[in-house]
Amino acid sequence: MPQPNTKDDGPRHVAIIMDGNGRWATQRGRPRLFGHQAGARRVREIVEACPDLGVDYLTVFAFSTENWKRTQSEVAGLMNLFRRYITREAKALKANDVCVRFIGDRVRLDAKLVAMMDELEALTANCRTVNLTIAINYGGRDEVARATKRLARDVAEGRLSPEDVDEETLPKYLDTCVLPDPDLVIRTSGEARISNFLLWQSAYSEYEFIDTLWPDFTADEFRSVVGGFGTRERRFGAVVA
Ligand code: IPE
Ligand code: IPE
Ligand code: MG
Repeated sequence: MPQPNTKDDGPRHVAIIMDGNGRWATQRGRPRLFGHQAGARRVREIVEACPDLGVDYLTVFAFSTENWKRTQSEVAGLMNLFRRYITREAKALKANDVCVRFIGDRVRLDAKLVAMMDELEALTANCRTVNLTIAINYGGRDEVARATKRLARDVAEGRLSPEDVDEETLPKYLDTCVLPDPDLVIRTSGEARISNFLLWQSAYSEYEFIDTLWPDFTADEFRSVVGGFGTRERRFGAVVA
């Protein structure tokens, strides 16, 4: 069971719903994709701020299972951007000792992008300073459904007994099986909802909903939000003296 932390503990795992790219672009009279490009450039400085803050795990929501509902041109633009991000950032990620993982369902992604994701994971597999997880075609409900399907298969084929299915077993089937639960979830752009992000994992996460649009979110603001976490008292259902 998770233990209540002391007030001085910083978050070890921070997850971010990077929202507001479209509005940022619209405010400037530019197409939405311009905002996504500016947003993608923000990720590097946030990753680089992690080691000094004691953040070992950073998870970012880049594309949800619901984002396919957008126009074909926005979706295609985003998929291109993910490919370009990988090409452009691979070297720096490796040099900064960042271990990259992707979560989400890869089945609907194009084969070229999936190959690049696999390559980046392999390239950075031994990196240890920061664990960066990028959620692409990720939805919390979809993840739980896919996990349940694999779990059911293990039961049907006799590898797992129904009696052994519990809170410890199920998360082993989630995409995030090697990650600790997020301590802090930040959402930019002023929306106070989680939009299907890390549903199981964030049961006891602290949330920060901030008004800044993602392309304007600086490392300084990140440091200040992460700094504020230390003043929160996490109880995990217990009474803390
Ligand atoms: C977040 O920004 C990026 C993705 C969801 C891909 P949005 O594109 O949702 O920006 P807004 O919310 O429309 O401003
Ligand atoms: C959540 O943002 C998904 C990502 C940031 C990738 P959305 O903009 O898709 O969420 P809603 O539609 O406002 O709930
Ligand atoms: Mg949005």
